[in-house]
Amino acid sequence: MVMSEQIVFLNGKYLPLSEARVSVLDRGFVFGDGVYEVIPAYGGRLFRFDEHLRRLQASLDAIRLNNPYTAADWLDILTSLVKSDGPGDQSVYLQLTRGVAPRDHAFPDAVQPTVFAMANPQPAPQPDLLEHGIAAVSLPDSRWQHCNIKSIALLANILLRQQAMDEQAMEAILIRDGLVTEGAASNVFIVEQGRIKTPLKDAHLLPGITRDLIVELAQANQIPCDETHLSEAQLIGADEVWLTSSTREILPVTTLNHQPVGNGRPGPVWQKMYTIFQAYKTTLRNPA
Ligand SMILES: Cc1ncc(COP(=O)(O)O)c(C=O)c1O
Repeated sequence: MVMSEQIVFLNGKYLPLSEARVSVLDRGFVFGDGVYEVIPAYGGRLFRFDEHLRRLQASLDAIRLNNPYTAADWLDILTSLVKSDGPGDQSVYLQLTRGVAPRDHAFPDAVQPTVFAMANPQPAPQPDLLEHGIAAVSLPDSRWQHCNIKSIALLANILLRQQAMDEQAMEAILIRDGLVTEGAASNVFIVEQGRIKTPLKDAHLLPGITRDLIVELAQANQIPCDETHLSEAQLIGADEVWLTSSTREILPVTTLNHQPVGNGRPGPVWQKMYTIFQAYKTTLRNPA
């Protein structure tokens, strides 16, 4: 074993990444039959842990998979991964699959779920992206009807993201029945006449932890914020467009479908919310 090799968690054991092995009959490998979470850890502290764990439980319930661990177990496992991986901001990836069984679509009897978790460095948002914003394209939402489940089966999201990359954009903003749902791996906000707007939570989008926090922070700071239906026309005509996710925080979109958003620069409401968000993170890093 290499001395500094990353330690990961697999089925109750901590082991070097190169020694972590899963059967080819694992239903995650064969079917994509599993769910996952990504939780940032700022200064070694898991960010919004309770909220992430609640969403994990909702995903597990939706696919009818038992959670083998209590919240205290999860905190213990994930915190030790973060600590063992040293200082700096990190993010924890965890996934559970329906375990190893002969290949058959129906649920296997009495099979233990496969549980895997690892911590990776989470680089700070790139100054260049914050200064200039990013490009996005709108694309038809080709995914299934249960996008609220954080499923490991991400083929549609991957194809959509790649289509965006092929068009020199960093994200695909998805449109279903004329309405904005979310990004291929992010939630979407717009600003219209000073009001922040984001799509209502339903089965067509992931209830993003960052999304919910932004709504909470907007309310706490008296910035008008609506959870509402957003049409593609509103997206295209918006003064500002933002994307949010645990790993990318809040990114301004300054080019949409190869056209400038607003004046083509990150907007003042984004700037304000970004500052509020960074201040919120700092209070967690240095609790009173
Ligand atoms: C499809 C999708 N929507 C939204 C998000 C943002 O969720 P969160 O803020 O919890 O990271 C993600 C994150 O990866 C995602 O994959």
